[in-house]
Amino acid sequence: MNPITRRQWLTTLGTTSSAIVLTQLLPTPAQADEAKPSSPYATLPPLPYAYDALAPYIDERTMTIHHDLHHGAYVKNLNAALDKFPKYKEKPIEDLFRILNKLPEEIRRTVRNNGGGHYNHSLFWESMGPKTDNSEPIGELATAITKDFGSIEEFKKQFVEAGMQRFGSGWVWLAITRKGNLAISTTPNQDNPCMVSDIPILGNDLWEHAYYLTYQNRRAEYLAQWWNVVNWTAVNDRYKKAIA
Ligand SMILES: [Fe+2]
Repeated sequence: MNPITRRQWLTTLGTTSSAIVLTQLLPTPAQADEAKPSSPYATLPPLPYAYDALAPYIDERTMTIHHDLHHGAYVKNLNAALDKFPKYKEKPIEDLFRILNKLPEEIRRTVRNNGGGHYNHSLFWESMGPKTDNSEPIGELATAITKDFGSIEEFKKQFVEAGMQRFGSGWVWLAITRKGNLAISTTPNQDNPCMVSDIPILGNDLWEHAYYLTYQNRRAEYLAQWWNVVNWTAVNDRYKKAIA
């Protein structure tokens, strides 16, 4: 038997009775508001340059997949989790990282992994740009790096070594510690220095999705070539803002 269509069903009912039935079936305005997902907490930021702008150091396809699909999924998953507990949407994401253990268990892991993924990648895109002559740290940041690591060369060497030592997926960071100095650290998965109350200044993505199409298993080569696309003006601006 063919299922009855909505039109046939309404025609079968009288005008009055159909109105009653519809009134009973339709949600009240309050119910409709409750059912409707609230506005998204996070949005996928557009890349501040073209997908092919970092080639040949990071290829166009990697950038497209990495930004649109990987980062896009972190944003979608984070929003879905916070739709269940809208009160946390009022807080900056850095604050959510600091209170991870106090978040409802139902969303704690999602905020950590997908919120971390959203924050880390947003910072990552902003820290890069097309290769320019400005390929070394500048300004106040250059002074601080030299003070805390001895030289720019020594900092870069230690950063790459730390990135190589992180087993599996994760990130390597330059961050301002609670003592106010700069330090290199690594984190697993999508964790970041905010989760230990440090302030990340620069981070490189050690997940294979960040480099595999061009470099395959050669993480050391990726880490070495990555310096060509670091936007030191943006990183120095972030440092100055953090210490202001
Ligand atoms: Fe990534």
